[in-house]
Amino acid sequence: MMDIEFVRSRFIKHFDGKTGNVYASPGRINLIGEHTDYNGGFVFPGAVDKGIMAEMRANGTEDTVMAYAIDLKDRVDFKLSDPNGPRASWARYIYGIALEMKKLGVPVKGFNIAFAGDVPLGAGMSSSAAMESCFAFGLNDIFGENKVSQWDMALAGQATEHNYCGVNCGIMDQFASVFGKTGCLMRLDCRSREFEYFPFKPDGYRLVLLDSVVKHQLAGSPYNDRRRSCENVVKAIAEKHPEGKFETLRDCTWEQLEEVKDIVGAEDYKRAKFVLGEKDRVLGVCEALNEGDYEKVGELMYQTHEGLSKDYEVSCEELDFLNDIAKENGVTGSRIMGGGFGGCTINLVRNDLYKTFVENAKKKFKEAYGHEPKVYDVVIGDGSRKLC
Ligand code: GLA
Repeated sequence: MMDIEFVRSRFIKHFDGKTGNVYASPGRINLIGEHTDYNGGFVFPGAVDKGIMAEMRANGTEDTVMAYAIDLKDRVDFKLSDPNGPRASWARYIYGIALEMKKLGVPVKGFNIAFAGDVPLGAGMSSSAAMESCFAFGLNDIFGENKVSQWDMALAGQATEHNYCGVNCGIMDQFASVFGKTGCLMRLDCRSREFEYFPFKPDGYRLVLLDSVVKHQLAGSPYNDRRRSCENVVKAIAEKHPEGKFETLRDCTWEQLEEVKDIVGAEDYKRAKFVLGEKDRVLGVCEALNEGDYEKVGELMYQTHEGLSKDYEVSCEELDFLNDIAKENGVTGSRIMGGGFGGCTINLVRNDLYKTFVENAKKKFKEAYGHEPKVYDVVIGDGSRKLC
């Protein structure tokens, strides 16, 4: 995590010399359970030790926000009452979350904010959810007497994506950023919103991310198309079974999917097939973790990659390449992490193979694409919090 003094010095310099409160929220990893959140399924994320840090302070105005993105050296001022909001994409997260927190009854007024991050942008580690939950946490503290619950803050972050950023995402990223706990992964049932902390200490193994540095961009992207495909399949199944209740693919069986295969067409069928398989794989991973069977966990991760690549079609050449290298180097499990279309693979690798794997991956990737992948060792950290 970055250091408070760094953020504070910029906050003081760019505004009126006064200090505010400092808040932090993390990015996330996800062991397994991809594209299952908006299908009412299970996910298995954890917060990381990298994220967003923001200093914030009420500025005494009715609704003027003065915002400074430290890393981009970009300053944007806007009014919360402006129906269009700011144009800069980073500032839209601030505008969006402020309006969503107002909807939840927080009397948000004008404020100053400066923020910085060390969670890589566009790497599929949810820098945007880290921003949303950090700003939500700060606004709740400064204007809302901390009355808004953690779940409502996570949902406000998701609503910000939907309503101001054009991404119809699920709840996984905001959930992980708000609820994360050091050393623990979390299994979340996205339908009931029940979750469990799972201490994750894989004896003899470690998790490492390889970032292809292909920027993934979810806004206005095929991400929303994937979601639509899933909804089409649910609709077709519901029409065939008027007696049943089908809200998401979570409510649908393999047999029901087969019944509508010809109605929904090959593409939507493939997408739903991946989701039903992924739903089972998360449960398989939980069982394997309980038994300490990391080889099984890894096998399921490879299956997920295969499905994300061939059926859900959210991979890219570079990510498939990294997955192949993992296989060639005897890595236990490897797959695309997050929404896809670029970003990272997550790799479960035995300690004794780690060094050769990372070296080989860097070398081979560079030969093929002209640059090395970035390497992030996963450290599972805490969720949103006030630092001072
Ligand atoms: C993105 C979205 C999440 C989730 C993942 C895929 O990170 O924000 O809601 O759908 O993709 O699992």
